[in-house]
Amino acid sequence: MINRKKIIAGNWKMNKTQAEARALVEDLIREIGKFDEAEIVLCPPFTALSAVSELLSPVPNIRLGAQNMHEAASGAYTGEISATMLRELYVRYVIIGHSERRQYFHEDNATVNRKTKAALAAELRPIVCVGETLPERESDKWKSVLETQLREGLAGFGDKELADIIIAYEPVWAIGTGKTATPAQAEETHQWIRKVLATHFSAAVAERIRIQYGGSVKTENAKELLSMPDIDGALVGGASLDARGFTAIIKNACLK
Ligand code: PGA
Repeated sequence: MINRKKIIAGNWKMNKTQAEARALVEDLIREIGKFDEAEIVLCPPFTALSAVSELLSPVPNIRLGAQNMHEAASGAYTGEISATMLRELYVRYVIIGHSERRQYFHEDNATVNRKTKAALAAELRPIVCVGETLPERESDKWKSVLETQLREGLAGFGDKELADIIIAYEPVWAIGTGKTATPAQAEETHQWIRKVLATHFSAAVAERIRIQYGGSVKTENAKELLSMPDIDGALVGGASLDARGFTAIIKNACLK
């Protein structure tokens, strides 16, 4: 069986001023120390990227990510940020198609596809988010919803592109609600995602790709979720804003 290194990313969303971000990162650097059994990624808001980047430059085991980007290289897109701008700040990952982007900013699978393509072209590693809503889960449509999100969001990519992509499965009903998918539910869904990837792309990709779980991950439930064989990490929102809690999630992720 292939060994997929766990990847834990903190999605700070629209939280933390630059000063607050600095304080949190200083605490995180202290708490996390040299721990490198998991890939660790921090995704602060755009305005704090530069400050966080500076603090992380001597820290090889904690990497920088962004929460979004625009697909164009440059141009008249007021309020937007390009992949090149992110690269200049040593950003290495970018979250694409988060359900909040889909819900509040009308991003669809085609947008996700274009942004993912642009991220890869700029050598950023996309964390592509997929997930179903509560009615879709309850009416048993989740399988087809996820299949469409993956097929359309990743359309046109081959094994080479997919090798640099991380998938985040985030059931919309579990984000910020305190409700988590049970480990068994999440595992079943991750297996389904691998099956879809094997069908539409290749068995090798399905086996190799890392799939994070996201949605109310916290210290108390991280270990159980992350011990499931097809859960390769976590995308953590609220709980990533606390240095101790986030560090405990990271360290728990690697306990057998
Ligand atoms: P949450 O958010 O951990 O606060 O539920 C996860 C996410 O939206 O990435």
